[in-house]
Amino acid sequence: MKFIYFPAALCSVLIIDLAIDTTGGLPNQLAHLYYIPVVLSALLLRPRLSIVIALLAGVAVSPVLDPARTALGIGAYYDSPEPWNLGASGWIVRPLAFVAISLLAGRLLRERTAKAAAETRGASRGEELGLLGRIDKMILSGSSEEDAIRELTRLVREFTPGHSAGVLIADRKRKTFHIIDTDSVAPELVDLVQQGLPIDEGVAGWAFLHGRTATSRNVFVDARYEKMAEVARRAGYTAAAAVPITLDDVTLGVLVVTYRGEHDFGPEEVATLERIAGQAAIAISNAKQRESLRRLSHETAIVLAEAIESRDPYTGDHCSRLSRFASLTATALELSPTEIETMRLGAALHDVGKIVVPDHILKKLDKLTPDEYAIIKQHCYSGGQICKRVSFLEAVYPIVYHHHERFDGRGYPDGLAGHSIPLGARIVAVADAYDAMTSDRTYRKAMAQEQAEAILRDGAGSQWDPDIVDTFLSAVASPAPERLAAVT
Ligand SMILES: [Fe+2]
Repeated sequence: MKFIYFPAALCSVLIIDLAIDTTGGLPNQLAHLYYIPVVLSALLLRPRLSIVIALLAGVAVSPVLDPARTALGIGAYYDSPEPWNLGASGWIVRPLAFVAISLLAGRLLRERTAKAAAETRGASRGEELGLLGRIDKMILSGSSEEDAIRELTRLVREFTPGHSAGVLIADRKRKTFHIIDTDSVAPELVDLVQQGLPIDEGVAGWAFLHGRTATSRNVFVDARYEKMAEVARRAGYTAAAAVPITLDDVTLGVLVVTYRGEHDFGPEEVATLERIAGQAAIAISNAKQRESLRRLSHETAIVLAEAIESRDPYTGDHCSRLSRFASLTATALELSPTEIETMRLGAALHDVGKIVVPDHILKKLDKLTPDEYAIIKQHCYSGGQICKRVSFLEAVYPIVYHHHERFDGRGYPDGLAGHSIPLGARIVAVADAYDAMTSDRTYRKAMAQEQAEAILRDGAGSQWDPDIVDTFLSAVASPAPERLAAVT
């Protein structure tokens, strides 16, 4: 569109000149019209071209063209001794005025444009700093890898002015990208995303393979797009940019931003996306490290629990079964992922305090004496003390310490009743009893599931929390297949 401005300005000067010549020549009020192309050229054209227009207007109001005018029979430039009422030098003053106005208008415009651009840059830099600050907070918040990626996707989508934005995570084995935040995927794209997006296609593939930012003004004429062109068509975008999310030379995935129409990604926009991708890499890597440390800690704790449990000849896989039961119940109660994980760990470690119980008491088949029973009861306190001394086990302390409380308040160690007993301890109490009843013992065979369920229902409200018994039986005794799959 801009290419027509200069020819249009030239035509305007010629038309005004023609209008003046055909209405009697100068001096003529129509000459004031020259200010229009002169000022507009200064505003719309590059400085050199606007000076050309101002000079042409100046020539048009000077006697330079008189011979041509005379030859055409139009008449001389002016016949007044005071051209344009500016005195004899008016023909010089007027062209100079045109050039001066052109220079002044051009300068004012450039200053104003530069100021507006600086303000825009300042505002967008402020927004960017705000976004980076929010990513920093997320890094410190200790969220899981999945939550970190989901939050990143949300923040980037909120920040970028484009059509959409997201984080693609690379699956090197399957050679595909997958999207963590599938809820944000348009319904028409779900089947393509579920198959996995090709890891070697489009700007995302290029950025991942080369470890550098890739942009495409129009993906439909971009040789890097084959299958991804279908994704772009269905998603409704034309331009796309992808920045690798890399930490310690390992590319974890790519940050992708798309636009509906064609779009040129400028250096500032690319630099901003790269800064965000740098923070995203730290957030994802931190979440991965935390997850790996957490898994290692939990595995160590469970190995310890199993080692202690192995002293007790009848228990078998008691720890892992209880962990699974507690997880199923916690999931049915719609507890948070962190709470479910605490339940798994607490259930596995609930009898860790038995380490202080001597073998001759722990393995005794005859009835325990009151003193021996008192020593057995000590395992809640001892287990609680172990958990208190290990920082990552602090959350499971209430489960381990209170798992022998009764709903009617007649349990131990503190005789708590009802909902004053921590929820995790109420769950483990039910799961522990159920597993004990449905497992073989040296002194008796396992009870039938129906019989164990009847005993739990009978003790609901006295020994156990009735709501937990209900939830436990529906979640564990006849769990939905998808729930079982989720915890195995
Ligand atoms: Fe116990």
